[in-house]
This record gives sequence, structure tokens and C-alpha cells, in this order.
Amino acid sequence: MVGRSNVGKSSLINALVRQPLARTSATPGKTRLANIYRVRRGSMQACYLVDLPGYGYARHARPSEGSAEFSQITDAFFDRPGQRAVLLLVDARHPGLSSDLNAWQWLASRSYARAVVGTKVDKLTKAERVRHAREMETVFEMPVALVSALTGEGLDELWKMIASLPRTAA
Ligand code: GTP
Ligand code: MG
Repeated sequence: MVGRSNVGKSSLINALVRQPLARTSATPGKTRLANIYRVRRGSMQACYLVDLPGYGYARHARPSEGSAEFSQITDAFFDRPGQRAVLLLVDARHPGLSSDLNAWQWLASRSYARAVVGTKVDKLTKAERVRHAREMETVFEMPVALVSALTGEGLDELWKMIASLPRTAA
């Protein structure tokens, strides 16, 4: 799970596993380490969900790179060998922020299998959902899953997406 601080990475992990495993906070910059959870759903092969620190958290920002935690821990994590796929979480209220596009391009440069997830969709009206989903799909050039950790909307579809994403070697 990669995304801006406060976008809902830790909350989404908890919603996916229906347990309060990951610590969440209304204040950005909560997750400071890579937290790795081994999960299994139904007959699906076990996988690891990785909760990373977010980027764009001002208190730790270096102007060019985002937060020190994000760049150090994320680089270290991505430099480890292994099969992985990346979910870029984007706040569905704010499609197309430059920090998210930068993250997307960085992931593309590493050729990981990747998908985009719009979070906090419970905060959008029906009309906004349609409009913002279209905007995100234009910007990221692929289908976007819209989810809410609060209401559970879109989580079954997201599990299917997670199961079907190819894992690319580092
Ligand atoms: P960092 O660890 O700081 O990078 O943040 P994070 O991306 O892990 O965000 P976190 O899961 O801690 O959630 C941040 C805030 O958003 C918390 O107040 C959550 O309750 C809220 N939040 C997360 N998901 C949702 C959602 O689907 N809907 C709504 N309404 N609020 C959400
Ligand atoms: Mg977190």
C-alpha cells in the first residue's frame, strides 16, 4: 500500500482483514515503519499486505523527496528482492494530485505490477464518484477501484483485484 499520509492505507488494511491490526490516526504521519501482515482470504493463496509510511507529510518533508520516512523506508523495502504488486492509494476526493502522479511515475520506472485505488469514497456524492473515477482513470490510464474502509464499499472487488494482480520480481 503506497500513498500520501492520511490517505487511508492502514485503515484499508484493517477493513480488508476486518481486524484492527494496523494503527490509524486522524493526524498524518502515523505509520513510521513498514508493517507487514500475512493474510489469507478463503481459498486465496496467503499473501503479505505491506503498510508503508505515507509521503507528503510536511513535518518530515525534504522539498524534493517528500518525507524522510517515506523515501528511506520505501526505498529499503522496494530494494529487497521478492515478488510484489503495488496498490497506489489516492484520496478519491482529490484525483490527479502531483504528489500522487510522481509516485505513480516512480512505480512505473520500477516496472511493478500496479493498480490505483480511490479511498474514502463514502465522502463523495454519487455524481462525484462517477466524475472523479473518470478523472482518475484518465490521469492514471487504467481502471480505478473505489473503496471505503468506513462502509466496506468496494472491498470484495478490491480483494479480487489483489488476487488477480500479477506479482513482479524486484
Ligand atoms: P499515514 O500512516 O499517516 O501515512 O496515514 P494512512 O494512510 O495510514 O491513513 P489512516 O489509515 O491512518 O487514516 C487516516 C484518517 O482517515 C483516519 O482518521 C481514518 O479514520 C480516516 N479514513 C481512512 N479511511 C477512511 C474511509 O474510507 N472513509 C472515511 N470517511 N475516513 C477514512
Ligand atoms: Mg498508516
